[in-house]
Amino acid sequence: MLFSSGIPTRIWVPVLIALLFGVVVTTLLLHDEILPVDYGPPPNTETGPKPNINRVPVRDTDLKQWGFSPPRVSCTGPRGLDLGPEDNDDNVRENTIDIPYPRPFVGSHETLGLSQTWMTAADRYGPYGWGEDEPTYRREKVAWNTTNWSKLQNQCLERNARRFKDPTPIRPLDRRFRKRKPGEEIPDLVAEPQDPRYVPRTAVVFRAFEGYNYTTEDLINLRATTAETALRFGGEYTVFIMVDVKDKRRAIFASEENYRRAVQDLVPPEFQDMAVLFDETVLQSWYPGIQTHITTYQVMQPLQLFGHFYPEFDHYWQLEVDLRFTGHAGRYLSSMSDFARRQPRKQSMERSTWFYMQDAHGSYSDLTASINATLDGGGGIGWNMQIDDFEPIGPRPPVEDPQDDPFSWGVGEEADFIAVGPCAHVQYMVDWAWRNWYQGLKAGTNTPRWMCQPAMGRASKTLLRAAHHGQSVQGLAVHSEATLSSFALWHGLKLVAPPHPLYQDPQYPLDRMNELYNGPGSVEAHTKSGMVGMAHGQAIYKITPWAYITTAASFWYTSQFPDKIYDAWLSRGSHGKSEGKGTNTTADLPYVLWRDSADGDGGEGAVYAPNMMLHPVKTNHNLVDLPAGPGPLFWVAIAGGACVGLAELVVVALWWRKKRKGVIQYVSLRRYDED
Ligand SMILES: *[C@@H]1O[C@H](CO)[C@@H](O)[C@H](O)[C@H]1NC(C)=O
Ligand SMILES: *[C@@H]1O[C@H](CO)[C@@H](O)[C@H](O)[C@H]1NC(C)=O
Ligand SMILES: *[C@@H]1O[C@H](CO)[C@@H](O)[C@H](O)[C@H]1NC(C)=O
Ligand SMILES: *[C@@H]1O[C@H](CO)[C@@H](O)[C@H](O)[C@H]1NC(C)=O
Repeated sequence: MLFSSGIPTRIWVPVLIALLFGVVVTTLLLHDEILPVDYGPPPNTETGPKPNINRVPVRDTDLKQWGFSPPRVSCTGPRGLDLGPEDNDDNVRENTIDIPYPRPFVGSHETLGLSQTWMTAADRYGPYGWGEDEPTYRREKVAWNTTNWSKLQNQCLERNARRFKDPTPIRPLDRRFRKRKPGEEIPDLVAEPQDPRYVPRTAVVFRAFEGYNYTTEDLINLRATTAETALRFGGEYTVFIMVDVKDKRRAIFASEENYRRAVQDLVPPEFQDMAVLFDETVLQSWYPGIQTHITTYQVMQPLQLFGHFYPEFDHYWQLEVDLRFTGHAGRYLSSMSDFARRQPRKQSMERSTWFYMQDAHGSYSDLTASINATLDGGGGIGWNMQIDDFEPIGPRPPVEDPQDDPFSWGVGEEADFIAVGPCAHVQYMVDWAWRNWYQGLKAGTNTPRWMCQPAMGRASKTLLRAAHHGQSVQGLAVHSEATLSSFALWHGLKLVAPPHPLYQDPQYPLDRMNELYNGPGSVEAHTKSGMVGMAHGQAIYKITPWAYITTAASFWYTSQFPDKIYDAWLSRGSHGKSEGKGTNTTADLPYVLWRDSADGDGGEGAVYAPNMMLHPVKTNHNLVDLPAGPGPLFWVAIAGGACVGLAELVVVALWWRKKRKGVIQYVSLRRYDED
C-alpha cells in the first residue's frame, strides 16, 4: 500500500526506520530492568504429594478485645446465622495450606498480625452469593433484593450499644448533609479526643458516583465488607455508601422527594438505607474559598462534611469501590488500625515514607532503630511542627528534648491518619503533577506537604474537623492525595502508614527494588538535607520514568497486576468481561496464587489466594472517578515519547541525506561513464 500510495520513499522509509528504532530502543530500555527473580512464589506442587489444606475458623481471639468495655455481643449475617468462629453459611472459610506462604516484597503479614491464610473465591465470597446460580452452591440462598444491610447493622449496634458513647443508628434517608446557611459560623477548632471509657466507633465510607454500574461482584464486595466489619465486630464499624450525584438537575437538597428519588435511582436496593448523597453545590456552599471541588483535586471534601454531619463516629475510613480484600476485610482493616495504635509518634513521619522490605531492613523494629540512628535520636519532622498559617491542635511533645522520649509518646493512642500506602515529601517530588498546587498557604510551596497515595485511608474526627476548618475558614488547600496527610502534619496529629503486604510481578532483584522504592544505600545513608531518615526512591519521586516498576504492584493506582490476580482467582476472563469460567486450566497463574491441581475428582483445581488487599480492580471496565490513573503524567509521557520520536526522525533524516549524497555522486559518476 505504502509503495503505491504515492508517498515518496524519502518520507516513508525514515518514518518506518524511526518507528522500528523506537520500538527496539524502548524494548531494550525496559528489558534492561526486567530481570524476574523467583522470589517467594509457591512451589510447584503438580508432581509432589498433595499438601494438606486445613480449614481454620476465625477465632474471636483474632479480634481486638477492649479490656475496659463490656464484651462484644455477636451479631447475625444475612441468613440470620451467628457470625463468628462457627462453620455456618454466613461465615467465610479460611484455610492454611502446607506450602510456603508467598513472600510480599513490601510489608509483612507478621508485622501487621495478619493471618497467613488462603481462600478460594467460594470460601471468600460464598456467603455473599458468589456462585449461587451454580449447581455446586451448597449454602442457603438469600433473597438479596429484600436484604437490608442497614437493618442488619442497626440490629448489631443495638445489641452492642452499651459499648459506645453515642450509638446513634443509621436512619434511612437521613439527609444530614445540607448547604451552609448564609452567614453560618464555623465553630472554632478544638481537638476532639475520644472518650477513653468507650470503644471507638468507625464509619466505613465507600465512595461511589452517579453512573457507576454495580456488577454482581461489586455487590458481593459491599456485602462482604459490611458483614466482616460492622457485623463481625459488634457494631464497631458502620458502613455507608457516599454517592457523588453528578447531575445537579436532580436538586437533591431542594426536597426530600428529590433526594429519595436519587437514592432509588443510584443505589442498589439492599444498600439504599445506608446511602449518603452529595453534589458539587453542597461542597461549594461549605468551601466557597476553594477554587475547585472536583474529585481529582478535592476528594476529601465530602468526607470532611461526613465528619461534620456524623459526629457519632471517632474515625472514618474512606474506601474506593475498586478495592478488594482476598481475605477477611474486617480483620485486614483492624490490623491496620491495631498496628497504627501501637506506633509511637516520634519519627512516625519518617517511618511512614518507607516501603518496608523485610529482607532488606530486618524486622520493623530494626527499621525503626535504623531510622532513629540516622536521625541521631531526633524527633523528626513531625516533632513540634508549626506552620505559619495556624496554631496546631495536636498534643505538644511531653518532653522538651526528643532524646528524652523513649519512643513511648503516642503508643496506645489511635492514629489520626492511617495511610494505605507510604507517604512522600511533596517538596522533593520532581514530576508529581500537583506538587506546586496549593491555595492560601502563607509560605507557599515552602510549606512542608505530604502525599500518600491512593486517596484512601482512615481519618479521625479531629483531623476531618481540622481540614474542614482550614478549608472553609482559611481557604487552605492542597491536592486530594496530600490533603489529610498534610493537615495531620501541620496540626501535629499522629500519622501512620502501616506496612501491609504488597506483591509484585514481574519481580526484580530485591536490592534493585529497595533502591528504586527507597533510594540508594542503607537506611543510615539517608541524610539528604530536609529528608533525613526518609526514603526517597526514584520510583516515587520521579514517577514517570519509573512507572513500569510501580505499575507492577498489587496495590498501586495504575497497576494492572490486581486485575490479573483477581481474574485468575475468580477463574474468569479479563476484567470479568467474558464468562471465561472453567476454561483456564493452565498452571499459568500469577505467582501469588496456588492451584490445587490434585483435587481427585478429575475436575479443574480450585484457585487459592493469600490474604491481600488489591487495588484497583476494574470490574466490567467501570471507570472509577477518583484521582487514580495517569492523569497529566500520561500526557507528559506521551509528549516525551513524541519528542524522542522526532529526535529519532531528525537523526535518521540526516543520515539518509548523507547517504543520498553518496547515491547522487554515484549516479552522476555513472552518467559521466555513459557519456
Ligand atoms: C426478588 O427476586 C426474586 C427472584 O429474582 C423475585 O422473584 C422477587 O419478586 C424479587 N422481589 C422484589 C421485592 O423485588
Ligand atoms: C535512638 O537514638 C538515640 C541517639 O542515637 C539513642 O540514644 C537511642 O537509644 C535510640 N533509641 C532506639 C530505640 O533505637
Ligand atoms: C489463562 O490464564 C492466564 C494467566 O492468568 C492468561 O494469561 C491466559 O490468557 C488465560 N487463558 C485463557 C484461555 O483464558
Ligand atoms: C455504565 O454503563 C453505561 C452504559 O453501558 C456507560 O455509558 C457508562 O459509561 C458506564 N459507566 C461507567 C462509570 O463506566
